Amino acid sequence: MCGIVGYIGNKQAVPILIEGLKKLEYRGYDSAGVAVYNGNDDNINVVKAKGRLSVLENKLKTYCPDGMMGIGHTRWATHGEPNDVNSHPHASQNGIIAVVHNGIIENYMQLKEFLQSKGYCFQSDTDTEVIAHLVEYNYRGDLLNAVIKTLNDLEGSYALGVICTQCPDEFIAARKDSPLIVGIGKNENFIASDIPAILKYTRDIYILEDKEIACVKKDSVSIYNILGEKVKRDIFHVDWDISSAEKGGFEHFMIKEICEEPKAVKSTLSPRLKDSKIVLDNINLTKEYLAQLEKIYIIACGTAYHAGVVGKYAIEKLTRIPVEVELASEFRYRDPIVNKNHLSIVISQSGETLDSLMALREAKKRGARILSVVNVVGSSIARESDNVFYTWAGPEIAVASTKAYNTQLSAMYLFAIDFALKRGTISVDEAKKYRNELDRIPSLIEKIVNDREKIQKFASRHYNAKSIFFIGRGLDYALSMEGSLKLKEISYIHSEAYAGGELKHGTIALIEEGTLVVCPLTQESLFDKMLSNIKEVKARGAVVMAITHEKHALMVEKYADIVITIPDMESLLSPIAAITPMQLFAYYMSVLKGNDVDKPRNLAKSVTVE
Ligand code: G6P
Repeated sequence: MCGIVGYIGNKQAVPILIEGLKKLEYRGYDSAGVAVYNGNDDNINVVKAKGRLSVLENKLKTYCPDGMMGIGHTRWATHGEPNDVNSHPHASQNGIIAVVHNGIIENYMQLKEFLQSKGYCFQSDTDTEVIAHLVEYNYRGDLLNAVIKTLNDLEGSYALGVICTQCPDEFIAARKDSPLIVGIGKNENFIASDIPAILKYTRDIYILEDKEIACVKKDSVSIYNILGEKVKRDIFHVDWDISSAEKGGFEHFMIKEICEEPKAVKSTLSPRLKDSKIVLDNINLTKEYLAQLEKIYIIACGTAYHAGVVGKYAIEKLTRIPVEVELASEFRYRDPIVNKNHLSIVISQSGETLDSLMALREAKKRGARILSVVNVVGSSIARESDNVFYTWAGPEIAVASTKAYNTQLSAMYLFAIDFALKRGTISVDEAKKYRNELDRIPSLIEKIVNDREKIQKFASRHYNAKSIFFIGRGLDYALSMEGSLKLKEISYIHSEAYAGGELKHGTIALIEEGTLVVCPLTQESLFDKMLSNIKEVKARGAVVMAITHEKHALMVEKYADIVITIPDMESLLSPIAAITPMQLFAYYMSVLKGNDVDKPRNLAKSVTVE
């Protein structure tokens, strides 16, 4: 979604805001802007522009406002098309207030009518502009009070930064259902939507909770609840390195993050693979709890949802507990049958996806225990869960999720093996076999990443394809969904994923001479069935890219146009490694098409609106 940065201190604000926004551009990139106050002028100076951050940077070359307090924003449009006027920051009628906002104000129309009746004129089509005017309307010499009064009238979600000409020594930040952190420096303080934006300046942060307001001065930060009472907050120290959030010589974040998969999976698995056992940190799901567990709901969006589909296959197979995988946006509105005998596993890389957060609350309200699988420490989903399994993938910056998916699958397998062992549905020896196989996976992915040239060459012959199908059976079907999503997200090529057995019920009508079909064959028990599906599409003229274990390469080569191999490994665990060639394929197709790989059109990394 949108990205917010705020600064107050002894340095010029604009370069710090721009530097921070660069680190947040993955959150939104259809327009950007800054508002700076220098303590002398009557008005706040606002510079904003439609387009990527670079457009704003160019504009700032002709006029760069000076001032040591400011707020900045990168936008992902919801209300009002991306244009200069709708870009943030938004100023109030008399120019004394400026606001940046991430989220959606649901009752903005009522508020707008109210403000219009009081003589306020609106410049933009955004919901955010009502906040700027309302703060001005409520301002009686105390900015904190004016913001709190305003928040009481807002329905919806927000992360806010508010500056005011009459309060040159402080600015106000607030959040509800949208992330916001406060960075604590020496004689300077910051706000940001995400840690990388301020990591260059400080590793000490406060994570704001819902409906909290921070009054940020250059030498102090005070946090209040919505009643205006002071709240005490511990400092959170960030211990990861800034280089994890930089490209480090790679052309794009996406390829860097694919190359980091062996490390990400190893970091996620190693602390949980102790001696010959699986130890799930403090996720204490006991034998007794698991024995009475009636059902598991896995709830997520996008790539995380696809990790959940793999989770369903694996957990049901090993534990015999029924598992339903739900799209978070559907789950929360369909009056789901959930009770205290159910476990909800919420998967989210960012831990801030609003649909997933709301679904979590819905499941919790109905009595389910919440176990989340989250990559960002301290995020909303992590904080609202009963137990958290952290995937240690490191920061993921490219909008298309890659290494987070492999680590989410790692979590699914660890749960499946641990729960099954405790329920007695697999033996100690079987658990040990899977455990040892998991241990090998990082090195297997490493091999796939190192052999990526063949995929690049194949992509160079097919990047003009109009439509690409992914077909698979069992876990390979789950895998195909993610492979197809990855391709769509960044190459803009139409693609669909189909269960191999379902082809004949309709989709095969779309296969014609030259149609590219990607076919993973990693499931031993379904291997012959999948070969038949390949024959079916080949007979209709398809070009087939198969992905299979090394031991099957010779056999599959007889049918497919190209065979991408992955090292031999257990069928059940193969998706963790077999996704990598699909991610690489999507990546190269996108590069060859000249697309902006890391920032695909219309998407955002962290979707904090409905
Ligand atoms: C957005 C992103 C997807 C991501 C999904 C879920 O739609 O563009 O790449 O998979 O959100 O994100 P989460 O952070 O909850 O895993």
